[in-house]
Amino acid sequence: MSKEVVLSGIRPTGFLHLGNYFGAMRNYVRMQDEYNCYFFVANWHALTTHPDTRELQNSVHRVIAENVACGLDPDKVALYVQSDVPEIAELYLYLNTMAYKGELEKTTTFKDKVRQQPENVNAGLLTYPVLMAADILIHRALKVPVGKDQEQHLEMARNFAERFNHRYGDILPSPQAFNFGNELVKIMSLDGNGKMSKSENQMNTLFLADNDDLIRKKIMKAKTDSGPTEANSVKPDYIENIFTLLKLVSNESVLQKFEADFNGCSIRYGDLKKQLAEDMVNFIRPIREKAADIQNNKPLLSKIIHQGAEKARASASATLTEVRKAMRLNY
Ligand code: AMP
Ligand code: TRP
Repeated sequence: MSKEVVLSGIRPTGFLHLGNYFGAMRNYVRMQDEYNCYFFVANWHALTTHPDTRELQNSVHRVIAENVACGLDPDKVALYVQSDVPEIAELYLYLNTMAYKGELEKTTTFKDKVRQQPENVNAGLLTYPVLMAADILIHRALKVPVGKDQEQHLEMARNFAERFNHRYGDILPSPQAFNFGNELVKIMSLDGNGKMSKSENQMNTLFLADNDDLIRKKIMKAKTDSGPTEANSVKPDYIENIFTLLKLVSNESVLQKFEADFNGCSIRYGDLKKQLAEDMVNFIRPIREKAADIQNNKPLLSKIIHQGAEKARASASATLTEVRKAMRLNY
């Protein structure tokens, strides 16, 4: 039996952080044996908000290198750059004739962007969900691992696929958001305000590219308080988050020691943070070093990118042949 197709895209608009790792990349790595996986860097999407292509090129290389450093195997999955697959652009063109101005203008992410960059409300922003639908439908992917904020886009992709099928014949299957249920962790910012993110809270977000000293500095500055005064208290959010990080990167015995200290009101947050800082340094360092090695090894990077493009184009052109046939565009 052939494996189900899984696809996801990452916008290269900043440095990847611990939230991306535990919320997305770790799960991609877990899926690579069971599914037929397509993971790509959405550089066309990035152009709608980040027109500086010099910076974009670096980011694309870094995202590819970091994904491989985190354990994605380019021999198992198709890891590619969106702009290397022109078939996506052709499908985007067809799907654009099935997307209506009204529904595009109503999309939440479009309305957010109009507010954030009123000086650059380009047509690419308006049709962002159509390009995303083309990304998915070009490989006839069924499962799309994404965060909650992308669910509206997925619903639109299903609508475009259904309209296509209705007009031209049953070719494109309906993709579903793939949820990891309880396994999906949310990594909060180190000051306890919101999530770690690419663009906000830089000193409160741990990036996979941070050096050892910066990791230590950020963790030692993480918000704590004077400690619980009653045994077995409920942890405030920002303390819970430190324990979440400890659970993800430290030994079970370390976690238990600090849990017991907390419950017995003898916890010293300075010691807790020192321990977490060392364990975090040991967790991030190999990823950072491997990513840097790959990024500096231009022949290797280029091999990975070309190999990904080849796999992605084989699948994409097979779909496009069907699409053209269905649309009677196969003269
Ligand atoms: P973004 O960086 O917002 O483009 O998100 C890329 C992926 O990482 C999505 O699947 C998000 O759900 C996930 N992600 C981003 N930030 C966090 C966070 N702080 N905690 C958990 N997952 C996250
Ligand atoms: N829109 C997604 C985001 O902002 C990135 C993306 C582009 C994507 N194309 C995709 C995600 C296709 C999944 C499938 O995170």
